[in-house]
Amino acid sequence: MKLTPHTEEWYAWLSKQQKGYFYPGCRVVAPWHGEDNFRTLVFEHLQPEMDVLEVACAQGNLALAMAPHVRSVLAYDVTPDYIDMTCKAAEERGITNVKFLVHNSRAQFNDGRTRLPAEDHSVDLWVNSKGPFHSILDAPRVCRPGAVMLMLVPSGGVPSGGRSAPWSELLPETLRSLLPPDQDNPNWAYKAIVGNLNEAGLRLHSWWDFDVPEYLPNPRELYIGLTWPFMEDEVPPYQEVEPALERIFKEFAGPQGLENRWRRSIWKAVIPG
Ligand SMILES: C[S@@+](CC[C@H](N)C(=O)[O-])C[C@H]1O[C@@H](n2cnc3c(N)ncnc32)[C@H](O)[C@@H]1O
Repeated sequence: MKLTPHTEEWYAWLSKQQKGYFYPGCRVVAPWHGEDNFRTLVFEHLQPEMDVLEVACAQGNLALAMAPHVRSVLAYDVTPDYIDMTCKAAEERGITNVKFLVHNSRAQFNDGRTRLPAEDHSVDLWVNSKGPFHSILDAPRVCRPGAVMLMLVPSGGVPSGGRSAPWSELLPETLRSLLPPDQDNPNWAYKAIVGNLNEAGLRLHSWWDFDVPEYLPNPRELYIGLTWPFMEDEVPPYQEVEPALERIFKEFAGPQGLENRWRRSIWKAVIPG
């Protein structure tokens, strides 16, 4: 059975393959890559009297880190295994002001309207790290006036956001077909998010783009990067593609390894006061 990456069914499958949501393999990403900045930005917004909602928290790393700095955190995710992991972690660490819920916020599971699992006007900070965009639509209901929304977006922000690496032409077809197609509109995420904000009656406050090098140390790591997040029967075995990957390294790699681009975006909105 073939599952489309980043669908709810795919996350349920992935949660049985690896413990939590993370990128496997070993790569070195240059600092100021967006994920580090997102965490800093979120922590700059935390205050002791705040109630925080985290959308799509997965195994709860961010929710558990925020909890000691705020009054409460409500965090949800559609994937039950992730919520099990985070509940256990909270118990082990004695963190009691976080509530974790299994919830699908998509409209088709909530009588046709996006539904966040929070009470009306109960949230001071809305946080979403690489989760679904639809969650923007219910923010005006759950947020208090003046609340801040912060989101980390994995791609589709920078103008070059949809372009393949220069060495991708040398990949065997079995690996090239796994790459997302070059986007006609590389700013697709920006447009979708601004569209959702407008639909919710909100305005973008800020949008930041990050485009930094990441280095893959050897052909094996390139293979791991290219074949994740696909199922075993969808990808060629390493031995079959090794010669092509070694050629790419010979022709393109520098002293730090093979360069790829790592792209992220962050945005912020403020609920009208
Ligand atoms: C790319 S992962 C990001 C996880 C985590 N926030 C992080 O930054 O590592 C996306 C998450 O969204 C969750 N998700 C996807 N669709 C969802 C939905 N309709 N409702 C709730 N959670 C959803 C997945 O289970 C997954 O944990």
